[in-house]
Amino acid sequence: MRMVDLIEKKKCGLELTSDEISFIIKGIMSGEIPDYQMSAFLMAVCFQGMTDQEATSLTFAMRDSGKILDLSSVPGKKIDKHSSGGVGDKTTLVLAPIIASLDVPVSKMSGRGLGFTGGTIDKLACIHPFSSPDSMDDYVNMIREHKIAISEQTGDLAPADGILYALRDATDTVQSIPLIASSIMSKKLASGCDGVVLDVTCGSGAFMTNLEDASHLAKLMITIGKSCGKSMAAVITSMEEPLGYAIGNILEVKEAIMALHGQGPDDLMEVVYKLGSYMLLLADRTDNLSDARKLMEEQVNNGKAYAKFREWVVLQGDASAGKLVDMPASFPRAERIDVITAEEDGYIKLIDAKALGTAVMMLGGGRKEKGDSIDETAGIVLHAKVADYVKKGDPLLEVHWNPKDGREEAFQLIRKAFVMSKEKTEPVKLILGEFT
Ligand code: URA
Repeated sequence: MRMVDLIEKKKCGLELTSDEISFIIKGIMSGEIPDYQMSAFLMAVCFQGMTDQEATSLTFAMRDSGKILDLSSVPGKKIDKHSSGGVGDKTTLVLAPIIASLDVPVSKMSGRGLGFTGGTIDKLACIHPFSSPDSMDDYVNMIREHKIAISEQTGDLAPADGILYALRDATDTVQSIPLIASSIMSKKLASGCDGVVLDVTCGSGAFMTNLEDASHLAKLMITIGKSCGKSMAAVITSMEEPLGYAIGNILEVKEAIMALHGQGPDDLMEVVYKLGSYMLLLADRTDNLSDARKLMEEQVNNGKAYAKFREWVVLQGDASAGKLVDMPASFPRAERIDVITAEEDGYIKLIDAKALGTAVMMLGGGRKEKGDSIDETAGIVLHAKVADYVKKGDPLLEVHWNPKDGREEAFQLIRKAFVMSKEKTEPVKLILGEFT
């Protein structure tokens, strides 16, 4: 087989066999296929797409490029949850302990934030000294004994995805549905779970900006997972405004803690309960979504969800991490908190999630490039959401920041992020689709 022939085949829109796809992934891992040929192939995929069978073969080849985590020593069905990324998305911090408090094991491999979206590992790392387990054995033991653990996605699992993702990033070929689906699913399959609940975000603050693409991505990932016997569900959630009120690492952790005490924003809790209900269903903990939701609400109201969260941060941190989450006011704060106010009376029509996520990144709260350090205290707290009525001078949001050069651009984005209307506006429809 020659890579140049396979590039031509894809360029002409023909379907590759699983052997051909496996040849490509093995070649990129061994270095026999150079980056320039792989880049040409990725561009051909962007234009020609892939059949479901090709995307499935690509996923399996990437999964098999590294280790596959063995969770068989953990009793019960292990259901992972994955979000395709958003602004203000602290869902995992709230959801994971609720599910674990119901004795359903939660095994979570997660990434760091990049660009305008945050990463769960960065958020938890604000609870000093929270860290990933030292080894995969420790990780599995934590899940077995405490029903909950999170680890930074290691390079051992689906390493081909790391190589491909860097090339896609450099060649503007990230935005391809089969490439996104195989990237996400190869990592999920390598993480050893029995099922996955996918949160496919859709809107201005997400990878998928329209419902048609988001539905296509959701269905493709379900097809891939089911083809190797995994239990699958996907929920399409709106990213037309930030989720909850807080954006930025420490601010989001504090909001998540309040949510576990029963004081979470409505939109955040809606997403948490929806995804969690599917997790409980796939784990065979309940046989219907409404019972699942009641169980989850009970765990928040009786304090067991927060107790599990505290156990988790002590487990992956130490006793001081437990004390910190008990007193959220003691988290470090940014040097300055500036309030941006409404310039006119009216209803809020739109809050540009991507602009606010980008602004937080520019304020130091996120990474422009992989490996950049982040300012955990930087961020935004909204005072109003879409459909709220505000009067001129009312606060729209507060900006938490530490003055440094070059922050003006961030403030320009923030000031333009709110679109107002004299007419009454509708709240954002949050759940846009559900697939199993
Ligand atoms: N998240 C991933 O892991 N991969 C993609 O390609 C896009 C989002």
